[in-house]
Amino acid sequence: MTRPSEYQAPSNIIGVFDSGVGGLSVLKSLRLWMPQAHFIYFADSGHAPYGERLDDYVLDRSRRITQHLLQAGGCQGIVIACNTATAVAVQQLRTEWPKVPLIGVEPGVKPAVAASINKRIGVMATTATLRHPRFQALVLAHASAAQVIAQPCPGLALAIEQGDLQSVEVKRLLDQYCAQLRDKDADTVVLGCTHYAFVHDQIAEQLGYGVRIIDTAEAVAKQATRLLNAPTSKGSTAETQVAPSIELLTTGHEEQLQHIAQTWLGLTQTARKISV
Ligand code: DGL
Repeated sequence: MTRPSEYQAPSNIIGVFDSGVGGLSVLKSLRLWMPQAHFIYFADSGHAPYGERLDDYVLDRSRRITQHLLQAGGCQGIVIACNTATAVAVQQLRTEWPKVPLIGVEPGVKPAVAASINKRIGVMATTATLRHPRFQALVLAHASAAQVIAQPCPGLALAIEQGDLQSVEVKRLLDQYCAQLRDKDADTVVLGCTHYAFVHDQIAEQLGYGVRIIDTAEAVAKQATRLLNAPTSKGSTAETQVAPSIELLTTGHEEQLQHIAQTWLGLTQTARKISV
């Protein structure tokens, strides 16, 4: 079996996928770390939210998207910019595509334990991520000395997916979930779903500014850069060396992905609807 680090990339196209628009938060960091790369961003918005689906469904969607990105898209590697799909599918996909670098995202439990003073860590994530044995293993491996407060946030990714970060529904759900974490006195809270990065500031405000918020997008981008052997320009002219191309694909509404990608990331590409 060829290990990812030995894999000879046929191209510098990198596939990035999520259940919807949440993975754009990871794409933002990836572009800074790999300004020379071409990206295909695949939003499975027609099948979101993953976090409230059965594991078999998420695995099936992740398989189809991976196959599409590798075979039709010609990607050299894939960033699974979704905690839920990573929990459910990354292990299986690595078995099926042993030569392909597949980089997943997981709740940043380890950095949260390191950052916490009272060792009470909150993890906001989807129900599917938190119930998965992979999450339990993460906690066992890195947080035996801490109390981990798992806070499922049903409905939140879907509300963010609609594109209005100030909506009544986003606010209602954040009020509810953040209050529960405040009551339990977590001094560090992990954003364990890539959608939540887009409401980072609202979460910070709700939790109180003394609470540290952990998001792993940058760590994932660094890891992807290393595994994909992509030249890094962090700290140099990353802002000016924008990626040569970004393709936006969605199984949902193309205008919606286009609008959100433009508003949240400043991307001007047109999005294309696709069915896989
Ligand atoms: N953005 C995804 C994650 O990181 C999933 C959101 C959802 O579809 O439920 O888990």
